[in-house]
Amino acid sequence: MISLADIEKAAASVLDPAIWDFVTGGSGDEQTLRANRAALDAVAVVPRVLSGVGGASAATVLVASPSEFPAAVAPMAYQRLVHPDGEVALAQAAYSAGIPYVVSTLSSSPVEEIAATGAELWFQLYWLRDRDVVRNLMRRAEQAGCRALIVTVDVPVMGRRRRDIRNSFALPPSISASHLPAEHTAGAQLTDAKTSALAAHTQSIFDPAFGWEDLAWLAERTSLPVVIKGILDPDDARRAARMGVAAVVVSNHGGRQFDGAPPSITALAAIVEAVAGSCQVLLDSGIRSGKDMLRALACGADGVLIGRPLLWGLAADGAAGAYQVLDLLRAEFTESLILAGCADVHAARGLRTITRIGW
Ligand SMILES: Cc1cc2nc3c(=O)[nH]c(=O)nc-3n(C[C@H](O)[C@H](O)[C@H](O)COP(=O)(O)O)c2cc1C
Repeated sequence: MISLADIEKAAASVLDPAIWDFVTGGSGDEQTLRANRAALDAVAVVPRVLSGVGGASAATVLVASPSEFPAAVAPMAYQRLVHPDGEVALAQAAYSAGIPYVVSTLSSSPVEEIAATGAELWFQLYWLRDRDVVRNLMRRAEQAGCRALIVTVDVPVMGRRRRDIRNSFALPPSISASHLPAEHTAGAQLTDAKTSALAAHTQSIFDPAFGWEDLAWLAERTSLPVVIKGILDPDDARRAARMGVAAVVVSNHGGRQFDGAPPSITALAAIVEAVAGSCQVLLDSGIRSGKDMLRALACGADGVLIGRPLLWGLAADGAAGAYQVLDLLRAEFTESLILAGCADVHAARGLRTITRIGW
């Protein structure tokens, strides 16, 4: 296993095809999913030379969390689908690698069990119709020791994921959203011909009318730093920054929400300019190597979230497999820093880039 692509192949060979589709798939024609990769591949980073750099430090601080390298584990629902140890194993890997782990609202293990790994946790919140559940989740995350609240804003409804519809995808009875009351979780397990139970479930519990006032309501009720995930427009980023958020995550949800949205890496520069240093800017969607991490930083990001590759590692070999993914990313990123003449993460953000399709 010397690249994330090797680990992807290993995961594909062990996962049930419908679960593989759930992990891999995007929405609609999967144009945004493909565009994320094409756009990252189009970014060349111009290396500096003679900088006298004998080694490099990849360490940084993301939001308020120290991180061994500029990455955090993206929030991903139902991790026990890909491995019985699920979220706990992935959080163990994050702990060993020294990076934050983001607990999903739709986690298949409770936040308290994940916290017992000792990992630095952030909690991801969806805006649910039942405001009491939202309020309780915020309290619960704070009490479990989470260090940030990351509010996902790009899921008014679930993107139309055709693979899941074709597979009539539903959760097996042993897996559910452990943070939600039982009456809110059963829908995700109901198999119905040619519908995605997950999409139907989302529709029944998520409030599609989420707005800026609701975000202010949330921010007033937590003492944690707030991060907004799913921003692609600079005006939205500026407005979030004016509200005092700690960071925005430039993301198209890994091509799983609005198909036709721009690649995150393409949207990044305008957002970095719009927030003008008033909050951090993180990025996800398509990061598959340390080289991609350097690309994101050179385009102005403070750090990245790692998504699907960690589910590949988890599926292939539990906590050890997920750690292998993080270890490879850390090694590749540190090497990329040295090759580009950067002593640290700060220097990487000053590198020039040239973007051209089809080098
Ligand atoms: C299986 C799966 C489940 C996900 N669940 C969530 C979730 O519960 N909350 C959320 O904010 N994002 C969720 N995401 C999106 C990720 O946080 C992230 O934005 C995306 O995976 C990044 O793209 P990449 O996987 O191509 O790197 C999920 C992604 C995948 C692949």
